[in-house]
Amino acid sequence: MKRYMKGLIVSTLLASLMVAGCGGSQQAAPAGDKAKSVIGVAIYKFDDTFMTGVRNAISKAAEGKAQVDIVDSQNSQPTQNDKVDLFVTKKVNALAINPVDRTAASVIIDKAKKANTPVVFFNREPLPEDMKKWDKVYYVGAKAEESGTISGKLIVDYWKAHPEMDKNKDGVLQYVMLKGEPGHQDAELRTKFSVKAVEDAGIKVQKVAEDTGMWDRVKGQEKMAAFLAANGDKIEAVFANNDDMALGAIEALKAKGYFKDGKFMPVVGVDATAPALKALEDGTLLGTVLNDANNQGKATFNIAHVLAQGQTPSKDNTGFDIVDGKYVWVAYKKITKENANEAK
Ligand code: GAL
Ligand code: CA
Repeated sequence: MKRYMKGLIVSTLLASLMVAGCGGSQQAAPAGDKAKSVIGVAIYKFDDTFMTGVRNAISKAAEGKAQVDIVDSQNSQPTQNDKVDLFVTKKVNALAINPVDRTAASVIIDKAKKANTPVVFFNREPLPEDMKKWDKVYYVGAKAEESGTISGKLIVDYWKAHPEMDKNKDGVLQYVMLKGEPGHQDAELRTKFSVKAVEDAGIKVQKVAEDTGMWDRVKGQEKMAAFLAANGDKIEAVFANNDDMALGAIEALKAKGYFKDGKFMPVVGVDATAPALKALEDGTLLGTVLNDANNQGKATFNIAHVLAQGQTPSKDNTGFDIVDGKYVWVAYKKITKENANEAK
């Protein structure tokens, strides 16, 4: 399996490099034109469902426009720092970095500034004080609190329409939380704002259990199995900070007889990945939130490309609103079985 994944990753990488390379021969630059720019892209790890979508979107946006050199940081910040050093040595025209540890952005900014190589961070938001260190630093992401609020509302809607969801009839919503990587803005804020949305709707809540599944499907399944073993009868809803963990939780629930013979558990996730849309279709996943990989990848590439050409990004030359001169915020969207086609 591991070898297969590696092969897949290598061939995907080769394919994207080839695609990037082909563009040049299709549109031969007029004599005297500046050579095509090279953008160094580092992903925190390739083995992440949502980030694979963003990575593909970056490659697609680059077709025929620039060469993107995309590398896997293998979930190690020291590895990523080495990759950044290599990009700087190769004199890439701009960097696009998905940090492993968002607090490490500071070190990367120092390296980039020293080499005068503009940098666009994405998906993992650097601290505000780091963003202010240099004017050629940008961030592309989505407002994490918004996704939390939307997932909370999905549960509120279900609670209101299905009084039987209150299994013990105490008027309180007993829930479990599968959290993403601690410290990640999406994990912290989705956790906080999903519960807040339920409370703001006037529903009392009680946390039965919370643990991190590190964005991972297998870990999500293991943690949910543990919650069920300890407190199975008490749980009335499952919040997961992303779809992979939600899908893992659904596996654990299925093993306990859920999703057949009228036994149901409301489970919500975030991302709207292809397997999650399939689960919506199947009626196992109650709802999710579109985390727009296509537009996040496109905005990241467009900004890096403009910077690589020595220009200042604007709505005109990138197609995206630049907030406070540094930020692009891509909107989230509520997704249920009814509008699943809007997430494809
Ligand atoms: C989140 C996404 C997760 C995971 C994470 C990686 O935005 O919802 O599934 O990909 O980013 O940083
Ligand atoms: Ca209850």
